[in-house]
Amino acid sequence: MATNSMNLEDIPSESLMSELLRRMKCASKPDKRLILIVAGPPGSGKGTQSPIIKDEYCLCHLATGDMLRAAVAAKTPLGIKAKEAMDKGELVSDDLVVGIIDEAMKKPSCKKGFILDGFPRTVGQAQKLDDMLGKQGVKIDKVLDFAIDDAVLEERITGRWIHPASGRTYHTKFAPPKVPGLDDVTGEPLVQRKDDTAAVLKSRLDAFHKQTQPVIDYYSEKGIVAKLHAEKPPKEVTDEVKK
Ligand code: AP5
Repeated sequence: MATNSMNLEDIPSESLMSELLRRMKCASKPDKRLILIVAGPPGSGKGTQSPIIKDEYCLCHLATGDMLRAAVAAKTPLGIKAKEAMDKGELVSDDLVVGIIDEAMKKPSCKKGFILDGFPRTVGQAQKLDDMLGKQGVKIDKVLDFAIDDAVLEERITGRWIHPASGRTYHTKFAPPKVPGLDDVTGEPLVQRKDDTAAVLKSRLDAFHKQTQPVIDYYSEKGIVAKLHAEKPPKEVTDEVKK
């Protein structure tokens, strides 16, 4: 709503120029929609790699976790319903997330395709996604499986800091900001996610193994899963994604 009523004169020239350059670069990309899913346990690097893939292929990045956190922060009816499950590290109901994804896929920035990050997380969500895409005459091109040992994840999750406004992610050891506790671009304070504790991670991993691993198996049977070595350093994971 706010974007529609925004006066172009109020947008900084740098932001306008970079959006213009992005659109010019993307205009030359083929019109076929590329549809990717990034799947993996919490902390496996989905949110780190998705913005890089998005820029490279002119896609939009649809992360259900980010959308739900925004709804929780804004105290919308959806956010109020989702908060309790998210705080405990459990999944929110299929109906809530399917609704937000169905709406988000229609955004103009998704014209060349999209990356689904954190969705689908249950076989029920995967089947509903197949139905939604079938109605549009498109299908999933690839599922990137961020395979990694659980033992590595606690250090990644408890060391993560984020800049809420932009979604930029840092790590105290693996990707530190230039000034501790502050965003590199805006200088604003970084925060930790409420569910990024060792205790909540246990429930999130449990949900991943019980409810989301079967989704990866579901797509493996369709022959569209590419397995990545997500324990490697970020740059090497990016190289694997590009291959
Ligand atoms: P969501 O926000 O999707 O969280 P998640 O799946 O648990 O994933 P994360 O964001 O924690 O991990 P990531 O893989 O993106 O890791 P990152 O790249 O940041 O979901 C949150 C909650 O929302 C769920 O628990 C659920 O309640 C609800 N929800 C969301 N979607 C839902 C759905 N479809 N259905 C039902 N409920 C849903 O990396 C982590 C850290 O490691 C960072 O600090 C990063 O700098 C560092 N790092 C990244 N890559 C590397 C590397 N290669 N080497 C070293 N460090 C690295």
